[in-house]
Amino acid sequence: MGAQVHYEKSVPSTQEVAHKLARDGAAEGTVIVADEQTKGKGRLGREWFSPPGTGLWFSLLLRPDIPPQQAPQLTLLTAVAVIEGIEEATGVKAEIKWPNDLLVQGRKIAGILTEMQSEPDRVQAVIVGVGINVNQEKSSLPEDLQSIATSLAIEKGTPFHRADVLTSVLKRYEYWYQHFLHEGFDRVRRRWEALAISFGQKITARTVQGAEYGTAKGITDDGVLILEKEDGEIKYI
Ligand code: BTN
Repeated sequence: MGAQVHYEKSVPSTQEVAHKLARDGAAEGTVIVADEQTKGKGRLGREWFSPPGTGLWFSLLLRPDIPPQQAPQLTLLTAVAVIEGIEEATGVKAEIKWPNDLLVQGRKIAGILTEMQSEPDRVQAVIVGVGINVNQEKSSLPEDLQSIATSLAIEKGTPFHRADVLTSVLKRYEYWYQHFLHEGFDRVRRRWEALAISFGQKITARTVQGAEYGTAKGITDDGVLILEKEDGEIKYI
């Protein structure tokens, strides 16, 4: 991971740069990191606040030989690698809120956006976007984020080198990705479940199709959430 690192001062979104590089044949493990994104993309078409100098905004290009329906497994793998990398570099322990929010005491510290280029039965490229709030001060967060977001610096009271955080995350990524490719998803899923906070709890799962309310029961081997609705109906999301 990271054998090729493209550093950009300012781009609309590292996801777009990664998509283009993928279409042009860039190798697996290529990383695009930007100091600033002017149109950072979040899940569900939301914007991801990515000001210069404070956060770690990067996209990772993968070329796993898997069918498209397995791609969500990589979102869960990413959450595990980011949590472990963050802890290794800073000592901050985050938890996972399905499917890809990383929280510290209920406040979001990082987000993951997984996108794919695929043929009907094979993935051509998976673009994993990761945003980690590293050195933001509380007062520098937009007002609407102050109560729901945090940063590594806020949590520890000291700034961190973003390159150190990136190095640790990519190291943990390498470990888990190789494990996934050679041994399959099972241990990734168990590690993910151990780090997740939602199981047994009532949650609202927001998807592009809308919001579903119910009790989070677990995840399937495809990385799909099993949600039990009030009327007992089981939904796979
Ligand atoms: C979320 O909504 O939680 C996902 C946020 C993902 C943000 C990262 S920052 C790097 C990469 N480039 C983007 O435009 N988005 C992702």
